[in-house]
Amino acid sequence: MSHPLGRLEDLPQDYRDDLKNLNLVPLWPSLRAVLPPKVPTRATQAVHWPYATLKPLLLKAGELTPIEKAERRVLVLANPGHGLENMKASPAIYLGMQLLLPGEWAPSHRHTPNAVRMVVEGEGAWTTVDGEKCPMSRGDLILTPTGLWHEHGHDGSDPVVWLDVLDLPLVYYMEASYHINGERQTVKPGSGDRAWTRAGVVPTQVFNRSDRRYPMLRYPWMDTRAALLAMADNQPDLDCVQVTYVNPETGEDAENILGFYALMLRPGQTLTLPARSPAQVFHLIEGGVDVSTCGKRFGLVEADTCCAPGYEAVTLSNRAADQPAFVFIADESPLHRKLGVYETR
Ligand SMILES: [Fe+2]
Repeated sequence: MSHPLGRLEDLPQDYRDDLKNLNLVPLWPSLRAVLPPKVPTRATQAVHWPYATLKPLLLKAGELTPIEKAERRVLVLANPGHGLENMKASPAIYLGMQLLLPGEWAPSHRHTPNAVRMVVEGEGAWTTVDGEKCPMSRGDLILTPTGLWHEHGHDGSDPVVWLDVLDLPLVYYMEASYHINGERQTVKPGSGDRAWTRAGVVPTQVFNRSDRRYPMLRYPWMDTRAALLAMADNQPDLDCVQVTYVNPETGEDAENILGFYALMLRPGQTLTLPARSPAQVFHLIEGGVDVSTCGKRFGLVEADTCCAPGYEAVTLSNRAADQPAFVFIADESPLHRKLGVYETR
């Protein structure tokens, strides 16, 4: 049983003035706001960003703003619950839909926030990360972790769009967000993702294993999709056909702060994910999926994105009775686990 606490206005004005002049604040009028009972106060709202409505505005940005004036031509998927100007989907997640036109080059830079790219549409673009040239095809996940040089180019003939997922809001809040511009990278031979083509075996050089923190930078969708289909086929009774993007050498999360996953819904399947502490983002790679959370229902079609606050259950329903659906998920789990606040209810 908690008692009503004293309010600021219960205190004499001269006392309040004395506190203010000395940079002091009484805790008790704000105590319930910062430590509410049982469930945290969350600004994050469940929001749906349909790709069909966003895409024309992104293409328009391609006409209005040359790449030299943008460096990164992005429309940010901002959660109104956090204030659009703060460019957050959730407390730790930034989402941006980025457009690169044929022949354009987004110059090399590196920064403290970690990023990934989930390729939404188009062929012929590439991202060079730490000297490794990663082709970008629909559904591919490409890491640009903290501190690694990265640049984007496009040798194809049609616009390419991808979804950027960064931990920028958290790193900015930590007053640790900055970038450094660099020269065009020299591309190293070979592509790193082909070195980890099968689970259970890893590349070895005279009995030595890779000790790179980010050995694998590109996760081809073709391989992830095949893994999900194989799992579903192998375990017909398995409810949740889901994989986590990991460092293939250590099994740890692919990046430090945000977690990345791919989920397959069987034809006609409805799956309820329990309420967990981290906020999460759902991006539909293939199929048609209804997402229900916080009393809202979003009908996702391919390339749509939505988010859900933490501490809320989410129900996903595959609308197709004859086709699987594939969902990319990003969440704040690694951060919550490191902070010791991760929970499932
Ligand atoms: Fe970047």
